Amino acid sequence: MSSSDLSQRHQKLAGVLGKQGLDALVLNPGPSLPYLTGLHFHISERPVVVFFSPNKPPIIVLPELEALKIQDLPYPIQAFPYDENPANWKKAFQGAIQAGEFEKGRIGVEPRALRVLELQFLEGAAPEAQFVSGEAVIAELRMRKDAAEVAAMREAAEIAQKSLQATLPMIKPGAAERQIAAELVIQLLRHGSKFAIPFSPIVSGGPNSANPHATPTDRELAPGDLLVIDWGANVRGYFSDITRTFAIGEVDPELKHIAEIVREANAAGHGCAGPGVPAAQVDHAARRVIEDAGYGQYFTHRTGHGLGLEGHEEPYIRSDNQLPLEVGMSFTIEPGIYLPGRGGVRIEDDVVVTPNGIENLTDLPRELVTLEA
Ligand code: CO
Ligand code: CO
Repeated sequence: MSSSDLSQRHQKLAGVLGKQGLDALVLNPGPSLPYLTGLHFHISERPVVVFFSPNKPPIIVLPELEALKIQDLPYPIQAFPYDENPANWKKAFQGAIQAGEFEKGRIGVEPRALRVLELQFLEGAAPEAQFVSGEAVIAELRMRKDAAEVAAMREAAEIAQKSLQATLPMIKPGAAERQIAAELVIQLLRHGSKFAIPFSPIVSGGPNSANPHATPTDRELAPGDLLVIDWGANVRGYFSDITRTFAIGEVDPELKHIAEIVREANAAGHGCAGPGVPAAQVDHAARRVIEDAGYGQYFTHRTGHGLGLEGHEEPYIRSDNQLPLEVGMSFTIEPGIYLPGRGGVRIEDDVVVTPNGIENLTDLPRELVTLEA
């Protein structure tokens, strides 16, 4: 990431903070910290936080032993390092609060990342400050991806697709869900995903495929099964998240039928999405196909979610989200039908809004592919 990218992000953040009535944003290690700093820290028992506020350089509290990481940053940063004795950590937080003049501030935090550990140090150092959700600020910053971010997501989709293709030959009756998932993970790493894959792949066969968030089991595939595979790769911190459904040999005609309906619902979502279209409308377009076919009660989740540095982020493609889609927003389109006890189908693609519609990052066949015994 170039220093001009980062300073552009800092400037944008300063503007967004004002709009949201916040004096500062404080981040701990999580998806947004590298986005704004280029810095990577593990989450551990040693708290790390960075404060961002308009017209001041970022202020960081960190362990002394990690101070090398901030030595050659392409932007100024004010550091409050602490030693190995936890009794001294409060002083570092107090120093940062004083330097930023945050004592009575209204300070946004990343609600999906901040822990009680950091919050207690922050509140201890600034008892009169208010720590509130900075979700809207973070979404405003990260929702529209720039060209470099889209390039990483494109690559993450390609790696995931190639990894699945390399796994397909072992998918046959007798193969256990867990074996297939293990092979898929190996292929993801071999094809160039970062080791921190976005999530453990879902590989669910037969009746297990009716559970949208199944965990791979030792169940072996059998002829007549539907098989749902939901997986993704990580490239430079950006994720892909794809689902395809397969038939193991000949499957029941109704299962074939729902696969076709889900394919049409997925296509309707693609056809509807574009700049200016409310997220809810994409959900509606996909859902209506499934409802019209009489399976509405078996489509039990939203049509999609934003995708980027997190597996689930804004914008959510949900019936109540009137947010108009904008160029650069990236999200999944993933309708499904799940028939309890019998099987399920989901088809999940990753898309990015373009000036003329959407770019599809995922292009594996969407029709029900039969893997012969
Ligand atoms: Co998925
Ligand atoms: Co998804």
